[in-house]
Amino acid sequence: MKTIIEPFRVKSVEPFRMTTRKEREAILRAACFNPFLIHGRDVMIDLLTDSGTSAMSSEQWAGVMRGDETYAGSESFYRLRDVLHDLTGFQNILPTHQGRASERILFELVGGAGKIVPNNAHFDTTRANTEHSGAEAVDLAIPEASQPRNRHPFKGNMDVGALEALIRRVGRDRIPVVMMTVTNNTCGGQPVSLENLRAVRKVCDAHRLPLFLDACRFAENAWFIRTRERGQGGRGVREIVREMFDLADGATISAKKDGLVNIGGLLMIREPGLFQRACNLLILTEGYVTYGGLAGRDLEAMAQGFREVVEDDYLGYRVRGVEYLGEKLLASGVQVIEPAGGHAIYIDAAHFAPHIPRDQFPGQALVCGLYRIGGIRSCEIGSVMAGPGRTPAMELVRLAIPRRVYTQSHIDYVAEACGELYAQRDELRGLRIVEGPEVLRHFTAKFAEI
Ligand code: F0G
Repeated sequence: MKTIIEPFRVKSVEPFRMTTRKEREAILRAACFNPFLIHGRDVMIDLLTDSGTSAMSSEQWAGVMRGDETYAGSESFYRLRDVLHDLTGFQNILPTHQGRASERILFELVGGAGKIVPNNAHFDTTRANTEHSGAEAVDLAIPEASQPRNRHPFKGNMDVGALEALIRRVGRDRIPVVMMTVTNNTCGGQPVSLENLRAVRKVCDAHRLPLFLDACRFAENAWFIRTRERGQGGRGVREIVREMFDLADGATISAKKDGLVNIGGLLMIREPGLFQRACNLLILTEGYVTYGGLAGRDLEAMAQGFREVVEDDYLGYRVRGVEYLGEKLLASGVQVIEPAGGHAIYIDAAHFAPHIPRDQFPGQALVCGLYRIGGIRSCEIGSVMAGPGRTPAMELVRLAIPRRVYTQSHIDYVAEACGELYAQRDELRGLRIVEGPEVLRHFTAKFAEI
């Protein structure tokens, strides 16, 4: 059957306001053509990010009421720790307010000037925290990752040969940790295979280097391993998740993705000495080790979220739902990164609007077009985000799908809007920046249409 059935029914609804094209035109101008400056109430379908935008289940909301707000030794913390221990095998687990807080602590401990951190591809905040410590962040994605039409099943993989060459070139002493981001957000939400994780582990072992996962989307990654990797089809998701974490010495996690919560993160470290130092830093800026800057109710919601995210019914619906949007776009002529990612569809904006030169931001033009035509908010991942002087490999627009929030008819509407915009693509106009900071300009820059 073709219809994707959401494996849940709706208990509470959150209405959004239907806007007209005329209203949206005025809103877009007032926001200086930057979707980050549009108020949430003026957005109909918000695909800006899949982070912190999940719908919580009735069990999670029940957990919110159960949350134990004890300062030290909250029961909610112990419940969370048990769930994560069961899922990942880790014992040393710290809650943090979100992923980047875990990254900040980790790189304050292991980073520093002269150090080099390899990753299959750093997410912005991971890169920023690495560089903030004085270390250098190096991306080692496989070549297929930058070929949008290449349907390699694990385009998130690390180039293992390049990792070995880097270690030989700079020496193991300059590499404090090897990171693997699962799934690989920067390269299109593409998964990493178990085979690749094992190979990276082997290289780490040979050079006595620790391996850490940036595991925000570990469950989506495990689902791809199960459905795409030879020999993995018969295994359960939990078993695969366990093997992924067994291969690692630590992990930073933003629970705002596969934790199915609106706020929260984790830092897990196997080595007791390093873990102890992380505890001290956590107390310094985040909070005591049994709450890490969160309320007891947040910990409770996280514990339940990590239980639900590895269920087959959920993951099957989740990954199929994103893939379905990709198929619809391809059918209407819109080029996207293939195959579909786990959490988002990435439109090739250079293909969509070839008449707009890269220095006039074709991705941003497409983002504005989608808002105008359908009240849909998306995010440019191209020359605007890269910043001045950097030319990214591709001009992309990300349609990130919040978890359990939109129905198939919402997704049909998005596909229809993209298709209609594609038919009128000649009318899209380039943009120029009229005001903007030097760093992280995509958040606040103001644009004018050319
Ligand atoms: N690592 C990856 C791979 C991410 O995608 C993110 C966040 C983080 C770390 C940081 O986590 O936001 O909880 O501090 N990604 C969001 C996104 C913001 O839209 O892709 P955080």
